[in-house]
Amino acid sequence: MTLGIFDSGLGGLLTAQYIKAYAPGVRILYYGDTAHLPYGDKSPQQVQAYAQEIVRFLLEAGAEGIVVACNTASAVAREVIRTEARDRPVWDAITATLQQFKAEPPAFPLGVIGTYTTIRSGIYGEAIRAYWPGAQVAELATPLLVPLIEEGFADHPATHLILETYLSAPSLGGIASLLLACTHYPLILEAIERYYAQRGQGCRIYNSAQLLAQAVVTNLPAATSSVQGEDTFWVSDYTERFALLAARFWGSPILLQKAPAFVGGVERKW
Ligand code: DGL
Repeated sequence: MTLGIFDSGLGGLLTAQYIKAYAPGVRILYYGDTAHLPYGDKSPQQVQAYAQEIVRFLLEAGAEGIVVACNTASAVAREVIRTEARDRPVWDAITATLQQFKAEPPAFPLGVIGTYTTIRSGIYGEAIRAYWPGAQVAELATPLLVPLIEEGFADHPATHLILETYLSAPSLGGIASLLLACTHYPLILEAIERYYAQRGQGCRIYNSAQLLAQAVVTNLPAATSSVQGEDTFWVSDYTERFALLAARFWGSPILLQKAPAFVGGVERKW
C-alpha cells in the first residue's frame, strides 16, 4: 500500500519511521510543508487550507491512504482532510490516540502537551471526555519545545530548564500519564522521563507518533505486503537545514525533493 504522510515539516518523519518499522511493505509518499511551518501558531482556517491542498497533491501522486502525522493538522483539519480524501482511509493523531486508549486506557489525570493551536482546539480533552465522562485531562501548550528540538538541544540545559518550567505548571501537577501530542516530542522523551524519575513521580508517557503508527498498521488492508516504487519525500521549501533536520528525524540522510507550496488553493510559483 502507498501511504501519503504529511506534516507541517520534518517531525512527521518519525511517524513514517515507526510505520516502516512495523510494516516494511508500505510505500511512503511524504510531504513536509516546510514553506509554511510552524502550523502550531496558525489559525485553524489557515491549516485547513494547506491540508486540503496537500491531501489533493498526495492523492494525485498515488497515495491510497492519508496519514496526518501533524498533531496540529489532526486537531483542526481532520474533517476537511476526510472530505478531501473521499473514500480513501485517513489516519489522524487524535482518532488514532483515542483508538489506542480505548484498547488500553491511560491512567487519569492525563496531561496533554502540544502546540498552541492543538491545545487551543481542546480536542484531546473533548474526545477523551466524550468516551470517559468526567475524566481529568489537563492540556498545556508548550511552544518552546519544537525550536529547541530542531536546534538539536534534546539534552541541553536550556531544554531541561524549559521542560521543568512547563511540566511543573500547576495544571499538570499530580498527573498519572502524559501524552506527547506533537510530532517532535519523542526526541525529548528521555528528558521528560528523567524529569519525572528525578521527582519520584510515576507518570506513564504516551507518544502520539507511535500510537498513530500502531493504529495505521493495525488497520492496514491485508493485501499490504510488497512495496511498489520508492519512498518519496517532498518539502514545499528546501534549505540545507531542512536536509539536516530530515536526517535527524529519519535517522539517516534522505533525498528531499522540492514540491509545490500551496497557499489556500493557489499554487505558489517559485
Ligand atoms: N508538526 C507540528 C505538530 O505536530 C509541530 C510543528 C509545527 O508547529 O508546525 O503539532
